Amino acid sequence: MFKVKILIAGLMVSALPLQAQTPVYLDDNQPIESRVEDALSRMTLQEKVAMTHAQSKFCSPGVARLGIPEFWMTDGPHGIRPEVLWDEWDQAGWTNDSCVAYPALTCLAATWSPEMSHLYGKSIGEEARYRNKTVILGPGVNIYRTPLNGRNFEYMGEDPYLASRMVVPYVQGVQENGVAACVKHYALNNHEANRHTTNVIVDDRALYEIYLPAFKAAVQEGNTWTIMGSYNLYKDQHGCHNEYLLNDILKGEWGFDGVVVSDWGGTHDTDQAITNGLDMEFGSWTNGLSNGTSNAYDNYYLAQPYLQRIQSGQVGTTELDDKVRRILRLAFRTNMDRNRPYGSMLSPEHYAAARQIGEEGIVLLQNNNQVLPIQTGNKPRIAVIGENAIKMMTVGGGSSSLKVEREVSPLDGIRQRAAGQAEVLYARGYVGDASGEYNGVVTGQDLSDARSADELLAEAVQLAGGVDYVIFVGGLNKSSHQDCEDSDRAGLELPYNQDAVISALAKANKNLVVVNVSGNAVAMPWVKEVPAIVQAWFLGSEAGNSLASVLFGDVNPSGKLPFTFPARLEDVAAHQLGEYPGTPDENGIYQQRYNEGIFVGYRWTDKQKKVKPLFPFGHGLSYTTFAYGKPKADSKTMTADGKLAITVPIKNTGSREGQEVVQLYISDKKSSLPRPVKELKAFEKISLQPGEEKDVTFIIDKEALCYFDDARHEWVAEPGQFEALVAASAGDVRGVVPFVLD
Ligand code: BGC
Repeated sequence: MFKVKILIAGLMVSALPLQAQTPVYLDDNQPIESRVEDALSRMTLQEKVAMTHAQSKFCSPGVARLGIPEFWMTDGPHGIRPEVLWDEWDQAGWTNDSCVAYPALTCLAATWSPEMSHLYGKSIGEEARYRNKTVILGPGVNIYRTPLNGRNFEYMGEDPYLASRMVVPYVQGVQENGVAACVKHYALNNHEANRHTTNVIVDDRALYEIYLPAFKAAVQEGNTWTIMGSYNLYKDQHGCHNEYLLNDILKGEWGFDGVVVSDWGGTHDTDQAITNGLDMEFGSWTNGLSNGTSNAYDNYYLAQPYLQRIQSGQVGTTELDDKVRRILRLAFRTNMDRNRPYGSMLSPEHYAAARQIGEEGIVLLQNNNQVLPIQTGNKPRIAVIGENAIKMMTVGGGSSSLKVEREVSPLDGIRQRAAGQAEVLYARGYVGDASGEYNGVVTGQDLSDARSADELLAEAVQLAGGVDYVIFVGGLNKSSHQDCEDSDRAGLELPYNQDAVISALAKANKNLVVVNVSGNAVAMPWVKEVPAIVQAWFLGSEAGNSLASVLFGDVNPSGKLPFTFPARLEDVAAHQLGEYPGTPDENGIYQQRYNEGIFVGYRWTDKQKKVKPLFPFGHGLSYTTFAYGKPKADSKTMTADGKLAITVPIKNTGSREGQEVVQLYISDKKSSLPRPVKELKAFEKISLQPGEEKDVTFIIDKEALCYFDDARHEWVAEPGQFEALVAASAGDVRGVVPFVLD
């Protein structure tokens, strides 16, 4: 307790202790829960109801009378979205709202580095804080169920364990800034087509084992302060007011004490919004993207309709007080935390972080004849071909679209890196989507080209024939029906005649590198014709620099795939067993069964046995080589409350330093319920100098052996035979250790 000294007529006298005068809710020294109760007790009914819904596109009210600030939301998840008008989606026209764009979350997941994830969260959190935001609407952790999902690029891949390990440090990094993360879209929002009218029918095993773990980790380990409900339905209720997902599981089983924010336009019913776990309603009367009805905020489901129900005695205030308590808790954790840092924007550290995350996430898929890295000794001539070498990728794709201070294109990055050491030439090769505008942000690029496909191809092939290296940069973009919110892809194939261009280039030059820019797997009918293939994601502001570092070998690639690249769409369980996207019932609702259950991604590929993926989950090459020694366990048996240590020596057998992601999968040899052949349960990214050897030790416990028994509604580890598989990818197991669970 400290005292205030007041100077009266030259005399110092001690006044009353400050604490006695400061209301509890404003006193930082009081526990948050006491502050919450105190603030709640001072609020009127109207003030409470006002707090549960938006007052503008991205803002909800605080309590002006009590000095409780407004709550400001921003997308998320790859950078801080530019300001829009109070009540419109149009740009507000600010000149101080350009940001750093970080690589898309698929790239972050491909780093397999919790350290990179923390750096990501910390950096983006600092930008959000500087821009005075309360909540970042991200990260997204919906599981990669089909490569057609237009929003996979915003998520962390197909594996619940990988996504769990990667989401936690992101959330922590953001929240260290006194800014809340908002983990989305909870839950089962696994594709975009008919996203408001799809009712997912999934068994409890798949729900708990595949679709929920990353959310649970974000809540229980990351302590995320907010969660966003999803657009789709589950058990015939929308995700934003879903009794089962929000009340029973999130707030009940997991003990979530934060705020459930609706997705924009995801609220549909006042009664369900009151009782089924929603705390803050945003974006009603919009489709979440373009249109909205002006000044509709009083008509929000949780505005006047809610107030009237309470005033007429139709509903009580228990739910309201619970919602407001959560919202006040959010205020004290963020805007009313006097000790939170100030944040920063556009700093050299942020650009360095974006570049490093990109460099660590780029995946070298194939490198026959060691075409890569590019050797500059003889001053080579390099032809860069393809629209994605020049097209800005930070604009478009939906709500993750950004207004960046700068974006280095692949062509510019390659040119800068090659300066003085190689000659770089460019040909377009094909025209994809020449437009470049989203939500009023324009790229300013003129990509129009009136030449025919044949003319463009002929120019590219001619150029390719006369150079030392050809780097084709293509893939998808952020236009509708590609990697883009609110629509799914039409197929697995590359668009815009790219397959023909790539095949022709392969014939013209044997040193061809294909760089695929996408957040999704694509078909590669030319895989055997092309020596080197690089998966380059959407890399944000530093795209060209990250890519050039890897192509020229300044950085040794160390990314590994966070999802399977299937050879054909039919090889994906959702497409072989169905259903995707389902068929509408008489009410226009797409009843969609996840018939594949737990067999998603490599769990399905493994089960198929004969079907080989194009590239397996966890795959990624390096410019050096790693030898895996024989793995050993510290015991032959594990007790139910014990642990088991599995150690494997890894040696860098090549001539340069490199990082390897060592993966541990568990296989249950016999069980009462069907289980996947193997499941990822641990991984570690290690760095080794040439010739260096390190032991990697994985400690596992019962949790790594469990399945979810839906009949008993509990996690079960069945005693019996197990195997620990040490692997370089899901398709490349290097050592097996059997053990028994007692
Ligand atoms: C998206 C959310 C986003 C929100 C606000 C919605 O359409 O689904 O991910 O955060 O809009 O822009």
